[in-house]
Amino acid sequence: MSNEVVLTGISTTGIPHLGNYVGAIRPAIEASSNPDAETFYFLADYHSIIKCHDPETVKQSSLAVAATWLALGLDTDNATFYRQTDIPEIPELTWILSCMTAKGLMNRAHAYKAAVSENSLAGSKDPDKGISMGLFCYPVLMAADILMFKANKVPVGKDQIQHLEMTRDIAARFNHTYKPLFVLPEAVVDEKTAVLSGLDGRKMSKSYNNTIPLFEPEKKLRKLIMKIKTNSLEPGEPKDPEGCTLFEIYRAFASEQEAQALRARYAEGIAWGAMKQFLFEYLNDHLAAPREKYLALMDDPGHIEAVLQKGAEKARNLSTPFLQEIREAVGIRNLGG
Ligand code: TRP
Repeated sequence: MSNEVVLTGISTTGIPHLGNYVGAIRPAIEASSNPDAETFYFLADYHSIIKCHDPETVKQSSLAVAATWLALGLDTDNATFYRQTDIPEIPELTWILSCMTAKGLMNRAHAYKAAVSENSLAGSKDPDKGISMGLFCYPVLMAADILMFKANKVPVGKDQIQHLEMTRDIAARFNHTYKPLFVLPEAVVDEKTAVLSGLDGRKMSKSYNNTIPLFEPEKKLRKLIMKIKTNSLEPGEPKDPEGCTLFEIYRAFASEQEAQALRARYAEGIAWGAMKQFLFEYLNDHLAAPREKYLALMDDPGHIEAVLQKGAEKARNLSTPFLQEIREAVGIRNLGG
């Protein structure tokens, strides 16, 4: 039995971009073929309906995100790959955990506090304007995701560290009150994994609208790369690869040797136009094969559904008996037995 249980939720809002790939998808897929780790990856679609109230978008992004992971080579025999909403034990556990969660703890959640402060900046009299219970209780649902599968390692972005602390807090309270059923998980924040910059030089993020979607058709990919902001140095003037978005993106895909060779071309004063063309061709070469797979998968949603159902079955083999134990522990029991 391996003792590393790695679990992470994939938010299903929007179309995956290069930054998602480098920061989260690629390391997760690499871990999925590690025989010493048990890995759980799931589409966090209950989380997606907190912010997105358009049913078609909710559905399409689940499809696109699942197709992306599969196209990039996720090993679904080794990893358990499922959709959160296929596991009814998760919302049930969420309720039980809610009863172990101090409201004050949720008051301190960054996402909730940010929403309140936006309201106050906008001059609203109601600090909770537009804030749903879903947003407020988001960390409890996330705790249920993690605790259900006894994960001990949870790879996440820095913004999620607080949610892991809350998860530990909630789990510890349960363990202390009832029975030590839950494993206290740790956030794994990889300082090394690149945070890619986007078109405008800020962090590549959907919220800045500066992303390069992973499977953009060739022409569009080229257009986006041509838009990446550079400085105004002329061809022939030496350029600094550090802090250059074009170099950073290349670096995230290239080998050390390839990066060295490109550093030399920067020193020689490669023209920005030539560099953009070079980056486009390089990325396009790397993305062409998975892009084709992605498009084929998007054309066969029945196959994706079947893969997810298989994953759900694997996951429920664990969650169904574990939830039974949890219910027993809190006193929800068969009265005749
Ligand atoms: N909140 C995470 C995010 O926005 C997604 C997520 C939901 C998650 N449940 C999780 C991540 C459980 C790790 C573990 O990125």
